[in-house]
Amino acid sequence: MSTDKQQKRVTLAITGATGVQYGLRLLECLLAQNCAVDLLISKAAHLVIEVETPEKLPANADKLTEQLSERYAHLAGKVKAYGREDWFAPAASGSGAASSMVVCPCSGGTLSALATGASNNLIERAGDVALKEKRQLILVTREMPLHQVHLEHMLKLAQMGAVIMPASPGFYHQPKSVEDLIDFVVARVMDHLGLDQQLVAKWGES
Ligand SMILES: Cc1cc2nc3c(=O)[nH]c(=O)nc-3n(C[C@H](O)[C@H](O)[C@H](O)COP(=O)(O)O)c2cc1C
Repeated sequence: MSTDKQQKRVTLAITGATGVQYGLRLLECLLAQNCAVDLLISKAAHLVIEVETPEKLPANADKLTEQLSERYAHLAGKVKAYGREDWFAPAASGSGAASSMVVCPCSGGTLSALATGASNNLIERAGDVALKEKRQLILVTREMPLHQVHLEHMLKLAQMGAVIMPASPGFYHQPKSVEDLIDFVVARVMDHLGLDQQLVAKWGES
């Protein structure tokens, strides 16, 4: 745990693509690394969380903050959730936003909104801010197959500086469980954020 290092702030958006487990595991790993996490969960993501996990997280941002803060009280970091139209959230402005934002998983809908500057909810606005301020923006996209518009949106966003990291785990770490596959993707995101992770050994390390 990096308690001695300066606390890093990260905006984590979880959107309604399958694989919300990636986002929830990433949250835990960020908090374990003493990050301050501004958490944004889309309406569709709440539904996917209900379908794909045993969880039903509160839709209300304050209740969500309370529940997650209690759950992760043993970890060094801090989490604060924000509502979909909380325009006073730090992530909504270039003067307040964290230096890094991750959308994990990133739906085709949110990908499209980011590629076109839609900014109709806090997740889209926060991504827009990250792009205009030239801050780190990591998009863990999840769709298959991909049509031309998905691919064009990814190319446009990559050209604007976003990092497109499709949720496609490798197998060279010989995964034994679904958790191992999730950790592969989360480990690569942590690496990009410059944060320590012991989830998967780096290539060339034993
Ligand atoms: C169980 C479930 C799984 C879904 N999986 C995906 C997916 O993998 N990729 C995707 O782009 N959309 C997926 N969707 C559809 C999105 O949730 C939908 O397009 C939504 O409008 C996205 O909104 P958001 O980007 O604000 O979260 C899924 C929906 C449900 C209910």
